[in-house]
Amino acid sequence: MARDRRDGGHQGVTRERLCRADDIAEGAGRGFRLGAGTEQVAVFVIRRGGALRAYINSCPHIGTPLDWLPDRFFDRSGEHLLCGTHGAIFRPDDGLCVRGPCVGRQLAPAPVVFEDGWIVLDLTSRENS
Ligand code: FES
Repeated sequence: MARDRRDGGHQGVTRERLCRADDIAEGAGRGFRLGAGTEQVAVFVIRRGGALRAYINSCPHIGTPLDWLPDRFFDRSGEHLLCGTHGAIFRPDDGLCVRGPCVGRQLAPAPVVFEDGWIVLDLTSRENS
């Protein structure tokens, strides 16, 4: 059974409840760090235009987390995602970098599923591929 977890602390995460879908407001996002050591995975979930999208929280430039403050992924306009390290700008709908040092590269989608109102990180499909 999936657990409800915002922060990690255990290894070998395969399937975890992140939060309720309703917990993420329009134009907002939430970050989650699960597992530990080499097993750690960081993801974030955003809501824009009513749709939820999830990405691995690692900038394609040098791999740092995007959030410039905790759970702050959008730029001031609310139109794009912003990497707080060097200012790369990404389209929220597909993660494509449209300005900055990694233009043309994309954020990696995070494997999430939606179950009974929960957002669930599901790494089992990665293990089976
Ligand atoms: S690490 Fe994101 S723009 Fe450099």
